[in-house]
Amino acid sequence: MRSTICLLLAIAFSLSVTAQSPQLNLIPWPVEVKQSPGIFLLKDQVAVSSDLPAGDWAPLFNYFRDEMKKLFRIIVVPAAMGKPADISFLMRRLPTSGKPAYKLSINKNGIVITSNFAEPAFQAMQTFFQLIPLDRATGYKEMPFTEIFDYARFAYRGLHLDVSRHFFPVDFVKKYIDYLAYHKLNTFHWHLTDDQGWRIEIKKYPKLTSVGAWRNGTIIGRYPGTGNDSLKYGGYYTQVEIKEIVAYARARFITVIPEIEMPGHSSAAIAAYPELSCFPNQQTAYPKQCVWSGPVAGKQVQQTWGVFDDVFCAGKENTFNFLQDVMDELLQLFPSTYIHVGGDESPKAHWKICPACQQRMKDNNLKNEHELQSYFIQRMEKYLNSKNRILIGWDEILEGGLAPKAVVMSWQGEKGGIEAAKLNHDVIMTPGSPVYFDHSQSENEDSVTIGGYNSLGKVYAYEPVPAELNEEQAKHVLGAQANLWTEYIGNPGKVEYMLFPRLSALSEVLWSPKEKRNWSDFEKRIPGMFKRYMRWGMNYSKALFELKATVVPAENNNGVVWKLENKNKNSTIHYNKTIDLSDPPNPPAFHMYTTPVLITKSGEYSAWSMENGQSLKNNIIQRFSFSKATGKKISLASPASENYPGDGAFTLVNAVINEKGFARTKEFLGFKGIDCEAVIELGEVQSYHTVVVHTLSRQSSWIWEPAAAEVYTSKDGVSFELIKSSTDFIITNKQTGNGNITVNFDATNNRYLKVIVKNKGLIPAGNAGAGNKSWLFVDELEVK
Ligand code: ACM
Ligand code: ZN
Repeated sequence: MRSTICLLLAIAFSLSVTAQSPQLNLIPWPVEVKQSPGIFLLKDQVAVSSDLPAGDWAPLFNYFRDEMKKLFRIIVVPAAMGKPADISFLMRRLPTSGKPAYKLSINKNGIVITSNFAEPAFQAMQTFFQLIPLDRATGYKEMPFTEIFDYARFAYRGLHLDVSRHFFPVDFVKKYIDYLAYHKLNTFHWHLTDDQGWRIEIKKYPKLTSVGAWRNGTIIGRYPGTGNDSLKYGGYYTQVEIKEIVAYARARFITVIPEIEMPGHSSAAIAAYPELSCFPNQQTAYPKQCVWSGPVAGKQVQQTWGVFDDVFCAGKENTFNFLQDVMDELLQLFPSTYIHVGGDESPKAHWKICPACQQRMKDNNLKNEHELQSYFIQRMEKYLNSKNRILIGWDEILEGGLAPKAVVMSWQGEKGGIEAAKLNHDVIMTPGSPVYFDHSQSENEDSVTIGGYNSLGKVYAYEPVPAELNEEQAKHVLGAQANLWTEYIGNPGKVEYMLFPRLSALSEVLWSPKEKRNWSDFEKRIPGMFKRYMRWGMNYSKALFELKATVVPAENNNGVVWKLENKNKNSTIHYNKTIDLSDPPNPPAFHMYTTPVLITKSGEYSAWSMENGQSLKNNIIQRFSFSKATGKKISLASPASENYPGDGAFTLVNAVINEKGFARTKEFLGFKGIDCEAVIELGEVQSYHTVVVHTLSRQSSWIWEPAAAEVYTSKDGVSFELIKSSTDFIITNKQTGNGNITVNFDATNNRYLKVIVKNKGLIPAGNAGAGNKSWLFVDELEVK
């Protein structure tokens, strides 16, 4: 006994002397943190007391006890009457003008958590869990003396899950809600219906789930797919299960916002009740490139991804009666003030030729189909408002006029959010770049993801309040949310892999004061978070520690520079030249990487890292294809879209020719609806006779080959003369969609050239995204 006490004193003494301020791996970082030397020892059994109202405290105590046991095998018991508690929860006013907040104090007398409401007491628990050292499962825990004062920056801190494209069981949805709770998020946006499955039981319309929740197969691989798995797929949540999930979330101070998609993305509902369509007798159409499984007659639940023309008819009263009936049952299940009605990606092709829709437009003096969509959403809004609820829609609800009280979810960049905030509407920011978590977070992703690259760093750097908004308008930004669409996410392991650690970055964006955000500090804290993920049994991406290669301009525009980086400080980086494409060839050699490598000739290189003499099996292979333009000064008339910015204009002359199509979107510049116009300064007068424009054609993803490539030449970089243009796009890889336009001409001697790669314009009828602006993707301009 005595020796144990001596040992504990020794530990306490040595810690207070040597480890004065241990690194606190708190995420999100609190508003104020003060550390002082010393530790409070937390035992295997801790006594807890509270003066919170009993109704608030009972569920909080149960949660605290269960989570502590799960994470640390610490037994939590109520403090005996008259005995001191190890942890006390107190309800007090705090100096935050009524804003929910908590204080957490650890000193020699124990742990005191003070909050002004039950909710911040719950959030304080999350901070407390993160303060407990994870290294030992049992045994005494050294709690560092700490004073924390904390509250949220944004009122809306959301995460979305699409359960239509892939269905996730109740237990996993609860786990998902736990992830939100661990990250101090407070809103779960549940995307319950879409073309590929209706997932909520509606008693008045049983076919929504007996028919609409099931599809007869799913395309294999990336759209349009290499076939169809021909497996019946589906599932839905009963109303009892939904109540259970909503209650589970409420116990974690999380609001569940349900989304019922309308008028588009409604194929599953139409399969169940064809009369909801403008054309009930027309069979369900699917893209000709996709393979279908099972019956094709009549209305079917979709088996592939995208946007479909068969949408709810806006002309028939029956559509609104149906949707109001659905809302009546929905509102019984979800107490949330906000109800999401979708509103995105609803093609107008059928409405344009539907007599009922056209009659509706005439009767209501609606000028076009966008105004008809606005009429549709406004009718739903009136209904929801009459039940004291507020409508949320995706940013397309701005088209044709915004419903008077609607909240806009800005997903197509920040534009919709800015416009709505300027109209004095509340907005929730959820721009594809960077908070669509279905995009890859690795530059070397092996699994299929939707195009685009949203790295951990990019998520961390996200600022939800656009700079364009003044102070008053900025108040309309309620917060932000990450979206997880599940076309290519078929199981919980992949959900977690896509979510983590990006959700941890987002939590800091949404919770922590803007001025407290610091990437290099976050990088130091994230390994601690990885340990927690492991303790929680969660899968996560290790992309942060991947070997990272970037190609940057060389000094004097002579060649390019290959930079290799590795966050794993215990490893060394190595590289060699695997194929020599230069003439005469150099003998290959292995090198230890110490400094960026200047590359001046074509060749293929490999890089990898080693730890303790072992290769970490993270090889990167990079081919450099040099031309007269490589590394030269280049400028663009208009920059690429922020969704596909590459490394700016230099991307087009970095000697990296894309070979993997959409799997390496970072190698492209993407232009939506506009041309790519580049001026290259060759440095000295050069003779050139060929320009090869490397580009991509993936019409299913709205990316079209260029309409033409035009080459101009100039002596002075001011006045340019057209030499030649070509419209001959040649596909070089059918699988990836890579291809090029080669423009040959009589050799010209000049210092400058301009290349205009013409955008295809609006997507023609009968194609995915018809009527929308097409994307132009360019990855390299080769000059010979
Ligand atoms: C969306 O991503 N279609 C909202
Ligand atoms: Zn119609």
